Amino acid sequence: MFKLCLALVLLLAISKIHANPVDSGYPSCSGNISASDVDRVHFALNLEFIEAEFFLRGATGKGLDAFNATLAQGGPPPVGARKANLDPKTRRIIEEFGYQEIGHLRAITDMTGGIPRPLVNLTRENFAMFMDRAVGRRSNPRFDPYANSLNYLLASYYIPYVGLTGYVGAIPYLVYFNIKRLVAGLLGVESGQDAVIRTLLYERQNERVEEYGGITVAKLTNEISILRNELGMCGIKDEGLCVPPWLGAENRTTSNILSANTYSISYDRTAQEILKVMYGTGDEHRPGGFWPCGANGRIARMFLDQGDHGDCRVYSEGD
Ligand SMILES: *[C@@H]1O[C@H](CO)[C@@H](O)[C@H](O)[C@H]1NC(C)=O
Ligand SMILES: *[C@@H]1O[C@H](CO)[C@@H](O)[C@H](O)[C@H]1NC(C)=O
Ligand SMILES: *[C@@H]1O[C@H](CO)[C@@H](O)[C@H](O)[C@H]1NC(C)=O
Ligand SMILES: *[C@@H]1O[C@H](CO)[C@@H](O)[C@H](O)[C@H]1NC(C)=O
Repeated sequence: MFKLCLALVLLLAISKIHANPVDSGYPSCSGNISASDVDRVHFALNLEFIEAEFFLRGATGKGLDAFNATLAQGGPPPVGARKANLDPKTRRIIEEFGYQEIGHLRAITDMTGGIPRPLVNLTRENFAMFMDRAVGRRSNPRFDPYANSLNYLLASYYIPYVGLTGYVGAIPYLVYFNIKRLVAGLLGVESGQDAVIRTLLYERQNERVEEYGGITVAKLTNEISILRNELGMCGIKDEGLCVPPWLGAENRTTSNILSANTYSISYDRTAQEILKVMYGTGDEHRPGGFWPCGANGRIARMFLDQGDHGDCRVYSEGD
């Protein structure tokens, strides 16, 4: 165990400057937008839809509509999600996460009425595109999140963590007791899911990812985190599984099973940061990536409602 995390430290130290645009004064780094509590939880639903579809399909082969057809409120089914080739333990865990996501969607919908599901891109090409950008090279063979448990967990590294940072960012702006209680409870499970995914990856940190020339799992998680920091443009909000000591808890460790700040407190993200990251465009006004036609709800649409978004209006069916 002694060797865990050590090899990466030098490399990560170099990427410090690179990962730290520190634009924290930039307006979209402040969550103080004019939005109601309901708008803020509706924004979170966008991420819950991604999680529900990715986990349910990955573990069971069936999407949200097979379990509860009303929650999507007529929004299009996701494209590209499919059953993953998971080992039995991973499959059981992901299946449970998928059902938890149904619960989250129901909780928000029952309390606030919900929003239609946005179009969600869960194709292998979309994941490969994000991974390729993170690593800075094209995968060969093409990265396929559904091919095996390791790839699926690496793809999952993209998902609950972003939701977690969004909940941490939203809570301070909430007004009403019932909504605060709801979001606190959602945050608890979301961060648990992230911790499980990170633990499963941590155990495999020295395994090599052949699609990217044999880089380690630890290095790949670090590259993904750096990409998200770059896209979010508000400094470091995201850390891989192994970090230089200046990012480790109390500057005493390079092990980083949880991503947190210098007080070991979770990072927060604003809605704009989340849109920049999940669109993959670094611009909350320009949709793409996981939400090719934009996220739904008043907050996301407030940034989006200018310009033309390709053929999104006519889009209605999955592939
Ligand atoms: C948010 O902005 C409003 C209006 O500009 C201001 O009154 C309020 O103090 C701000 N809140 C925080 C936490 O910055
Ligand atoms: C779907 O979720 C809604 C909202 O919680 C609930 O009222 C409904 O009974 C659920 N439908 C099924 C088939 O479980
Ligand atoms: C999903 O993403 C891939 C990769 O960027 C892209 O080729 C494909 O057109 C996207 N699908 C939709 C429906 O936007
Ligand atoms: C750890 O190091 C960072 C940067 O060098 C510093 O800002 C921070 O205060 C240190 N944290 C502790 C707990 O000493």
